Amino acid sequence: MREEWGSRAGFILATIGAAVGLGNIWRFAYIAGENGGAVFLFVYLLFVALIGLPLVIAELALGRRGASDAVAAFAASAAGSLWRHAGWIGVVAAVAILSYYAVVAGWALRYFAGALTGALWREAGAGYGAFFEGFIAGSAEPMLYQAVMLALAALVVAAGVKGGIERINLWIMPLLAAIVCGLAIHALLLPGSARGVGFLFTPDWSALGRPALYLNALGQAFFSLGVGMAVFVTYGGYLGSQTGIPRSAATVVIGDTAFALVAGLAVFPAVFALGGDPAAGPRLAFITFPQILLDMPAGRIVGTVFFLLLSAAALTSMISLLEVAVAVLVARTGWSRPRATAIVAAALFLLGMPSALGYGTLRGWTLAGQPLLDAIDHLVSNFLLPLSGLCIALFVGWRLRAAEAVSAADLAGSAVAPAWLWLLRIGAPLTILVILLRSAGLF
Ligand code: PHE
Repeated sequence: MREEWGSRAGFILATIGAAVGLGNIWRFAYIAGENGGAVFLFVYLLFVALIGLPLVIAELALGRRGASDAVAAFAASAAGSLWRHAGWIGVVAAVAILSYYAVVAGWALRYFAGALTGALWREAGAGYGAFFEGFIAGSAEPMLYQAVMLALAALVVAAGVKGGIERINLWIMPLLAAIVCGLAIHALLLPGSARGVGFLFTPDWSALGRPALYLNALGQAFFSLGVGMAVFVTYGGYLGSQTGIPRSAATVVIGDTAFALVAGLAVFPAVFALGGDPAAGPRLAFITFPQILLDMPAGRIVGTVFFLLLSAAALTSMISLLEVAVAVLVARTGWSRPRATAIVAAALFLLGMPSALGYGTLRGWTLAGQPLLDAIDHLVSNFLLPLSGLCIALFVGWRLRAAEAVSAADLAGSAVAPAWLWLLRIGAPLTILVILLRSAGLF
């Protein structure tokens, strides 16, 4: 029998759990930092509302309509055309992301473990730069933590949609919301925090002239929402008809955005108050921030809670990505869920090894001059996800009949239906194409 969510709240929390992850804390903070803060935020919010939200609605609608895994959901609506294979793009994107995402999640877990035992605060000797570089340059340790995170995600997924995924999100997500709010309040009370708030909310409009801003904002919108990875198609497949899609999608999108903003308020005021560099890149969360914690009132407690937040948020996202692949495998092979989960998790561990070793043993292997993990993250977020989003928009916008699409999305008779369809058919695809071609240097 087909699995289903146990309650609307469970579905919403699990879906927010998929959306909220390293992207909201680790990635959002450094991408916003590198791209000028407030101006980035403005463009980002625009993309979230006009491209992200319509796509989340489209993915959920497609998934519920197919009532199966991501690949079958596309195939069901496109028999006999090439479109029937389109679901694979999202599945490939999900696997590609999870391969390196598990590595970064492992870093978060390593820091959390160190903070808990107190060892992390004694490692600061030569600064966290040296500590972090030393840690990721090792081979055994990063792989060990990567494996632990994958194993945790696999345990949850193996326990099923309702008994595993829904259950864990029901208690982790409220906890995360409380933690991130507490951290933000603490940061805002630091003397000098106003500059960090200003950085996030005072725009320097001249930055709008930089093309990289748009590509990065688009990539971040896709990554942070989790759009284009078949996650919402898969989660939509477990959704009953009584849950309204537009309202659920809006809740998820608003929840994800609010989480990124509050996390930004937890990081930037602290960075400015204690003299860090907001444009420190991917190292912001692992080098700049721990350094700051040492001088912050109650910094060790804040740090322990922060890395718990980072690890748990990463876990709920890993669960959703793993579920995409497991659902496809179970449907195609007839294997049991635990067996399929174990096999996918083991394969992901192997696939992620080059990313885990890219700063140490495999330092010589670079792509476009970057370490493997950084290069794969950039390629997947800025190109594969937008392309996959483009396919979903075109599929739901053009391949399905308008009336079918609108009713699948619970928008029949609604005043926003024409706007939604227009965004899927023209607005979103055109914006995505223009940004991609522009950043490929084609005009
Ligand atoms: N959205 C998650 C984050 O912000 C990552 C993710 C990507 C989750 C894709 C699911 C699908 O970290």
